[in-house]
Amino acid sequence: VPAVPLPARHSVGCPFGPPPAYTEAAATANLSRAELPGGESCWLATGYAEVRAILSDRRFSADLRHPSFPLLIAGSRERIGENPNFLNLDDPEHARLRRMVTGDFLVKRVEAMRPDIQRIVDEALDGMTAGRAEADLVADFALPVPSLVICLLLGVPYEDHEFFQGISRTLLSNTRPFEELLAARDEMLEYLEALTARKREEPRDDILSRLAVRDDLTPREVASTGFLLLVAGHETTANMISLSTALLLDRPEQIARLADPAAVPGAVEELLRLLTIIHTGVLRVALEDVELGGTTVRAGEGVVAMLSTANRDGAVFGGADRLPADELDLDRDARRHMAFGFGVHQCLGQPLARAELQIALATLFRRLPGLRLTVPRDELAFRTDAFIYGMRSLPVAW
Ligand code: HEM
Repeated sequence: VPAVPLPARHSVGCPFGPPPAYTEAAATANLSRAELPGGESCWLATGYAEVRAILSDRRFSADLRHPSFPLLIAGSRERIGENPNFLNLDDPEHARLRRMVTGDFLVKRVEAMRPDIQRIVDEALDGMTAGRAEADLVADFALPVPSLVICLLLGVPYEDHEFFQGISRTLLSNTRPFEELLAARDEMLEYLEALTARKREEPRDDILSRLAVRDDLTPREVASTGFLLLVAGHETTANMISLSTALLLDRPEQIARLADPAAVPGAVEELLRLLTIIHTGVLRVALEDVELGGTTVRAGEGVVAMLSTANRDGAVFGGADRLPADELDLDRDARRHMAFGFGVHQCLGQPLARAELQIALATLFRRLPGLRLTVPRDELAFRTDAFIYGMRSLPVAW
């Protein structure tokens, strides 16, 4: 079986699903060999059980500085591992830094934010529809809503959104030159360090201020944590809003389900499952030899855990009374999906992402019942050049 080249781009024929090379690999085996852009080989885990086993096993490290950590971009391992944030650290370092912000993203805290999120969603829609009959849903709704929310939480001025959205786009790109990615990362860290220094002088009621005044964090650690929250906090949810909208506009009978408030949370879980926007997988390196489904992954070997194929595993998400696992079925019980990962690195922001998606999608379709695409479906512009799957634009009218 030939090694699967990573990362593979989406084909136009399958815009909402995992890249075809991954689906093909998943159809053959739950664990295959893959080739990284730098030419090194690694493992590709595509089955639900294997992905879950990897992400819950501490013998698989998320530390980017490990000498054989799998890299989806060809470049210097040393430079890319500078100033890691807790997404790419192992415990106890990971736990120490994550603990500093856990309280800010607890379900209870996020539930109390719902009125703020609703206001942000309503204002974005007011702005989008004022005196107009059509718009780009990405620029006017999907991107501003989560950006405004994370700015409010972190205490980052929203006026700087073009700067940080541009940097995120560069960082998440899988086609830009390596040096450009490093420069974007450094620029963002400098920006956040300067902002943190100002907050240390004049603390406000926001996450960066609270981190800035702690004496058990270095300014770099505060900036790296802010960096992770800022990038992870807007681009992901924005892509989920635009992809979900595009998918639903083709399925009016499913849109009707969103009118029932009790059905909205389940519907969002199903959208998260089917779309699994971290479509190129999450990366780990084995610290010891590990038995995985009858195969031995050797110490030092890299693993790409494909959340997207795992989330379409028919044995887990199928069922006689449900549509096949690669189709949208808003009444499916999708709660076991791993769109937010699994194990110690499971998404910190998931309560926030859920609240934003539930409010944004339910409000959008309630307020604009006539929402429709203004371009043919095959002209939709998907983001095939990034590690997080999404849409470049979504031209709509109402
Ligand atoms: C981690 C997905 C929204 C913050 C992760 C991981 C996934 C993920 C798959 C695990 C990565 C790994 O194991 O290597 C998503 C999706 C989102 C979303 C699909 C939106 C629909 C957010 C939001 C925030 C956020 C709104 C807000 C701050 C984080 C952080 C981590 C993380 C801090 C690192 C957790 C750790 O390493 O302990 N996310 N995320 N995410 N996410 Fe999210």
